[in-house]
Amino acid sequence: MNTFGNIFRLTTFGESHGPAVGGVIDGLPAGFHISISEIQNALDRRRPGTGHGVSPRQESDRLQILSGLMSLDECGEPIPFSPDKDTAITLGTPVGFMIPNTDARSSAYDHLREVYRPNHADFTYDRKYGLRDWRGGGRSSGRETVARVVAGSFASQLLATRGITVHAAVSELGGCPDTHDFNKILEETKNACDSVGATVTCSIHGLPAGIGEPVFGKLQQMLASAMLSIGGVHGFEYGDGFALCGMKGSEAADRMSSDGFLSNHCGGILGGISTGQEILFRVGFKPTPSIAIPLNTIDANGHQTEVKTSGRHDPCIAIRGAEVIKAMTAIVLLDACMMDLSAKNIFSDR
Ligand SMILES: Cc1cc2nc3c(=O)[nH]c(=O)nc-3n(C[C@H](O)[C@H](O)[C@H](O)COP(=O)(O)O)c2cc1C
Repeated sequence: MNTFGNIFRLTTFGESHGPAVGGVIDGLPAGFHISISEIQNALDRRRPGTGHGVSPRQESDRLQILSGLMSLDECGEPIPFSPDKDTAITLGTPVGFMIPNTDARSSAYDHLREVYRPNHADFTYDRKYGLRDWRGGGRSSGRETVARVVAGSFASQLLATRGITVHAAVSELGGCPDTHDFNKILEETKNACDSVGATVTCSIHGLPAGIGEPVFGKLQQMLASAMLSIGGVHGFEYGDGFALCGMKGSEAADRMSSDGFLSNHCGGILGGISTGQEILFRVGFKPTPSIAIPLNTIDANGHQTEVKTSGRHDPCIAIRGAEVIKAMTAIVLLDACMMDLSAKNIFSDR
């Protein structure tokens, strides 16, 4: 299960401290113009080492394209792909890419070879595979999401040509909704060698009514599946979400008029299909598992011990997670639009 999507599909590969993380994107139509700098900008927004809310690991996150694209010369004619040319054109063939890992300091993880970090995937990977790459969390590292951001940028660029945009930002941090206090909370958390959870709110604009599959593959189901595939995500709700459980039908009803819907408690999706309203959802991140506070745990032989994770970690996953949410949302939307096209009956006169 390293592949996500139905028609627009992303396969990711790579471990946190291996030579690179990368991906293969399938399903991109031929002849679409792609801005390489736009992809790099998305990578830079997710990059570690760029603020006190994120891991100090210094990765330049330079994108390397391996296949599926050609560059365009001054006359707009295809030429072999060159990273120095900003505009590329899709060939309709799989886009292969990688981002080298250049700042892995694996020795900081030596003590985790035989010991399980509470709340991380060390214990479960060992139980499943019988072995794991302990360096930087291996495949379960947040580093894997760098490949999702690349695919998300391809998807966003296609969606933007139809006026479909995605926005995501941290809306609550450590239970505090006031964005002005976020830096203070992050600094206090970091000084205490601790970590903190957060909520990201995501909104989609410009998606027309009628996108999404009605039974299996509902739009909210695809979004939930995408969000819950991101490491550290523990919650997903759309529209008024769990607040709807405490409401009366008359309070929750999104009444309609000839001008459209009068409210949006249901978050812009009904019956698994977009209503044409703004789509709103929230994603909850748990606090980063790796903290430099000693925690009770066990080693691979089941013996009780303590673990204190002193490597370079994000004090709050959501800070960089917001860019990953944007990317996964764009991937879902493009896939859903492509599935919608495939459902249109080309043999019908209607
Ligand atoms: C962008 C991003 C960055 C992350 N950074 C860290 C980190 O620095 N330290 C850590 O312990 N976990 C980090 N995580 C979370 C782990 O990947 C995640 O908790 C782990 O894989 C276990 O999966 P689960 O939390 O979904 O159960 C990060 C996740 C993401 C998406």
